[in-house]
Amino acid sequence: VTPTLFLNGRFVRPEQAVISVEDRGFVFGDALYEVVKCYSGRPFRLHDHLERLEKGAAAIRLVIPMTPLEMEDVIDQLVATNGFRGSDAIVFIQVSRGPGPRDHFFPPREETECTIVISATAAPALDLVRYDRGIAAITVPDKRWGMCNIKSVGLLMNVLAKQKARDAGAQDAIFVRNDILVEGASANFFAVLNGQLITHPEGPRILSGVTRRVVLEIAEERNYTVRLEGPSISRLEHFDEAFLTGTGTEILPVVAIDGVQIGSGRKGSVTNTIQDEFHSLTRGQSRELHGSEAY
Ligand SMILES: Cc1ncc(COP(=O)(O)O)c(C=O)c1O
Repeated sequence: VTPTLFLNGRFVRPEQAVISVEDRGFVFGDALYEVVKCYSGRPFRLHDHLERLEKGAAAIRLVIPMTPLEMEDVIDQLVATNGFRGSDAIVFIQVSRGPGPRDHFFPPREETECTIVISATAAPALDLVRYDRGIAAITVPDKRWGMCNIKSVGLLMNVLAKQKARDAGAQDAIFVRNDILVEGASANFFAVLNGQLITHPEGPRILSGVTRRVVLEIAEERNYTVRLEGPSISRLEHFDEAFLTGTGTEILPVVAIDGVQIGSGRKGSVTNTIQDEFHSLTRGQSRELHGSEAY
């Protein structure tokens, strides 16, 4: 299969997908993105992702010249033409405010078109040992901007946090602000404490993760007690379990944070149950939990 991707209304080969050096996504990080995972060719919670993109666009006054339905259609075509009908794929969507002379002011709308890139590539195989044994994470001071609910491509702090984790021999980083574990560098964070599931509330400090929402739905179905409150780092020694959630991350146990063992140091039973439920939602033919189906 010759890979194709979508760029500004056309299906092209990767080497033909060229954008301007003056693109505002490149110059200013003036762009949004989404990552969607397809299981056996079917995008999981696509409506939630496209809805978040629309909300983010409205928040930064970006007018996307394409409807969610049109995007859905493009994604469907990309999955088919790239040969992912029966396999797992990662769909990447990026929309920038388009090219223009380097000037902070928005270019006049008549003169510029958004740059829209949509691609589908093979999903990397998950390292099952990691998902069973869990990972070690470090904490990093959260110095990000105050609109983390917008999925902006400005990921410099996330990049630095991830690399710091790797340099420290850990696998991931968790942002901490005022002694609160806010979220991971590319995932949301949950702790289990005294039988309660605890995660930071939605708002400008975190990305409202699609996977986070799925986990909250699973928790509701299972009658878990949920506290929407950022877990305090002062309670780290008392956490029974911890895990990260994200589209690519799925449900990843965290068994050590800053060298402190979490719970038994092994994947806990709540994490295990949520992994199982998530697996049956994404891979099984079982019921779909109530994701928002309308735009
Ligand atoms: C900072 C951050 N938080 C949370 C998430 C998880 O969001 P989702 O579950 O929608 O992928 C991501 C995913 O990329 C992220 O980058």
